[in-house]
Amino acid sequence: MKAITRSQYGGPEVLQIKEVPDPSPKKNELMVELHSATVNRTDCSALTGKPYLVRTFIGMFTPTAIPGTDFAGEVVAVGAEVKDFSVGDRVWGFDDQGLQSYAKYMCIKEHRGVAKIPENYSYEKAAASAEGAHYAFNGLKNLQLESGSKVIVNGGSGAIGSATIQLLKYLNVYVTAVANTKNIDLMKDLGADKIYNYESEDFTKDQERYHYVLDTVGKSHFRACKPLLLPGGIYTSSELGPNAENLYLPFLTYFSSKKVKFPIPTNCRRSVLYLNRLITEGKFEAVIDRAYDPKDIADAYNYVSSGQKTGNVILNLHKL
Ligand SMILES: NC(=O)c1ccc[n+]([C@@H]2O[C@H](COP(=O)([O-])OP(=O)(O)OC[C@H]3O[C@@H](n4cnc5c(N)ncnc54)[C@H](OP(=O)(O)O)[C@@H]3O)[C@@H](O)[C@H]2O)c1
Repeated sequence: MKAITRSQYGGPEVLQIKEVPDPSPKKNELMVELHSATVNRTDCSALTGKPYLVRTFIGMFTPTAIPGTDFAGEVVAVGAEVKDFSVGDRVWGFDDQGLQSYAKYMCIKEHRGVAKIPENYSYEKAAASAEGAHYAFNGLKNLQLESGSKVIVNGGSGAIGSATIQLLKYLNVYVTAVANTKNIDLMKDLGADKIYNYESEDFTKDQERYHYVLDTVGKSHFRACKPLLLPGGIYTSSELGPNAENLYLPFLTYFSSKKVKFPIPTNCRRSVLYLNRLITEGKFEAVIDRAYDPKDIADAYNYVSSGQKTGNVILNLHKL
């Protein structure tokens, strides 16, 4: 089969399209013919091997040969013990520990992060419902969110941010979103109650007070956002922050009225199943920026690494 491959960590120049052996499903695995994946910020870390922590999952010195963390496609074979999937099923999923989806085929264990694509949801939308939405779900799952909670989301236009806003609106939470001029209409479409244009306004000067400040793009810091929080309020970020402060501030603020929490993402399966339910109910729809063909994979990585995508960037694997 054809696959996008690499033999070392580095920039997009290490990627090549090559012929490699077809995978074959073990007894508890599905073999999927891939239609779409995304190029996302997790893939960017896996490409360079930085931060070094990512290498514990995909190889300390030499990375797994085929990149790719999410997928959508059709089941073409199942192992003898697979119970819940059949040949012909349309499936999607996510796994940030060496999935290797940038290929014509891949195999995944049926109890990992994989689900049947809801009716009338495209392969592109399914692939785009994985990575950012997984981190969004993990960022929210330990917070005490309820109808009437007030949350400010910095970076509402990214993969994590656009999913976070939708998950919050599903819970009937009041959302203030921060984005740039070109994404103001998107923030309205996603259901934001109030919007800050970060190009002309400073959201940290907002006079409203919030239960949570969620920086899904890692562009703020706790000290500047602390006045926005109500007593008992919590600040989280998707990035480590200056001097990795978001790793130690949770300990320093543990007994304070206003706290920092740093969400550690786990359990891709739980996220995929939760999102699948929301997609089926018509309560979640992935935001897609643009699509690239496999031959343009370097351009796709360069665009995603710029930190300027809106939602998700698709890779057309059916064109491999
Ligand atoms: N902790 C984890 O486990 C984990 C996992 C995955 C990703 N991440 C990190 O989480 C961050 C977000 O990932 P993502 O995939 O959601 O990002 P992304 O899709 O690349 O999105 C970035 C978005 O943020 C907007 N933006 C840029 N600067 C901004 C600012 N100062 N204020 C508000 N919005 C701004 C950009 O819009 P414009 O540039 O067009 O204005 C763009 O739409 C990344 O830093 C990524 O490395 C963390």
